Amino acid sequence: MIAPTWVQLVYLACAVCFILALKGLSGPKTARAGNLIGAAAAVVAVSIPFFYLELDHVVLILVAIAIGTAIGVFGAQQVQMTQMPQMVALFNGVGGGAAALVALLELDEILGHSRDENWFIYVATAFTIVVGAISFAGSVVTFAKLQELMTSRPVVFAGLPLVFGAALVGAVVLSVLTVTSPALWIGIVLGLLGLAIGLLLVLPVGGADVPIVISLLNAFTGLTVAAGGYVLGNVVLLVAGTLVGAAGTFLTMLMANAMGRSVANILFGALKGGSTLGAGEASDRPVKSAGPSDIAILLGYADRVIVVPGYGLAVAQAQHTLRELVEVMMERGTRVDYAIHPVAGRMPGHMNVLLAEAQVPYEQLLEMDEINGEFKHTDVVLVVGANDVVNPAAKTTPGAPIYGMPILNADEAKQVVFMKRSMRPGFAGIENELLFEPTTTLLFGDAKESLGKLLNAVKSL
Ligand code: TAP
Repeated sequence: MIAPTWVQLVYLACAVCFILALKGLSGPKTARAGNLIGAAAAVVAVSIPFFYLELDHVVLILVAIAIGTAIGVFGAQQVQMTQMPQMVALFNGVGGGAAALVALLELDEILGHSRDENWFIYVATAFTIVVGAISFAGSVVTFAKLQELMTSRPVVFAGLPLVFGAALVGAVVLSVLTVTSPALWIGIVLGLLGLAIGLLLVLPVGGADVPIVISLLNAFTGLTVAAGGYVLGNVVLLVAGTLVGAAGTFLTMLMANAMGRSVANILFGALKGGSTLGAGEASDRPVKSAGPSDIAILLGYADRVIVVPGYGLAVAQAQHTLRELVEVMMERGTRVDYAIHPVAGRMPGHMNVLLAEAQVPYEQLLEMDEINGEFKHTDVVLVVGANDVVNPAAKTTPGAPIYGMPILNADEAKQVVFMKRSMRPGFAGIENELLFEPTTTLLFGDAKESLGKLLNAVKSL
């Protein structure tokens, strides 16, 4: 059924809002407004069918919306900043699964009437069912890995490539059958095969690569929703899905580039024995460590300091204390900048968001390319809860999971101070030679506590 003109116009306005939302989300200053615009447009778009369609089971739909809203609001309030990737994975997976279910119901609906002559509708239906199911099952596995409900290491078994290949061939055959001789049972088996493909696709991915796969599955869900929009003849779904698909694809490529890996290597590296393995063992080799008062002297009398924030800063929620310390150092005449690695933390823009929340001026946040030439002129690099993003193994050790990833050249500075709690490695699970260099000093402890002590010590110099 063609929607009335006023509905089309409202949908057009919603689509424009989604584009504005994406634009807003591309910068930390405008991200909050972008998010609100997108959410408001989504609410409007979801409400519209109640006003022009004759819906069955309105009460049931409203109850389902109420339950979903309550779970969503509660989940979003409970989630820690560092758990955001798995939250996104869950929301994304549910979107893909919902699109697949809607496509199955639509297939049943189309078959209930006389057969639609438009063969492309069946192509889009098959696509929505299989890719939506892949996205759902894959997202559930990524959630389980990041939430540590299962091992974050790659799960590989003998014959996996064969089973995966067979499932893919099966899905292609059933998709063709959905077009040539559509039947509900074919759609259901196609959905089940999609679930199996989703599981087999994500199980072999190592923990460090999971956020990239989440972004890839996000793109899948976007495309699924776009195809679903075509099946249902709903323009706003088509536009929103295409935007999510395109943005997810770009994000996946940007993250893979920043880690110096190809998407194929991330997905299938473990099958060749070369993927990131997740958590590794703590080293017992000797290192030089010092207390806050010694480090305060190093920092207090330096001309030039670069701060390298990482995942540990987010875990400790030490961004405010860090900002205060930097301000005190600057008042003493030290030039201080923050070096932002594109994959520091666990999600894109993690450090920008964290430091923006602590009101660190944007001018002090320098991207890797801008600052990498500066390390050799720097007295002290203060590495706060970062590890992999300054690990020289990325340049020197072929075969290391992070080999080829561009890193911050902290090793070129005169002195390096690492703030971490133990000798455990970073997310990639490998030792960092920079910790053992004679120019490196470790300040052990939780980043927030250590920064508090450092702040007092620098103030009393
Ligand atoms: P990591 O290499 O994971 O290192 C984090 C460090 O923080 C660890 O050395 C840990 O040591 C320390 N730490 C944890 N909690 C702490 C606390 N409360 N106080 C002080 N230190 C604490 O982090 P990174 O350098 O930010 O690198 C990010 C990693 O994630 C890279 O491998 C990257 O490829 C991967 N990754 C990132 C993304 C995105 S988009 N950001 C996506 C996928 C993968 P202790 O345990 O000893 O304290």
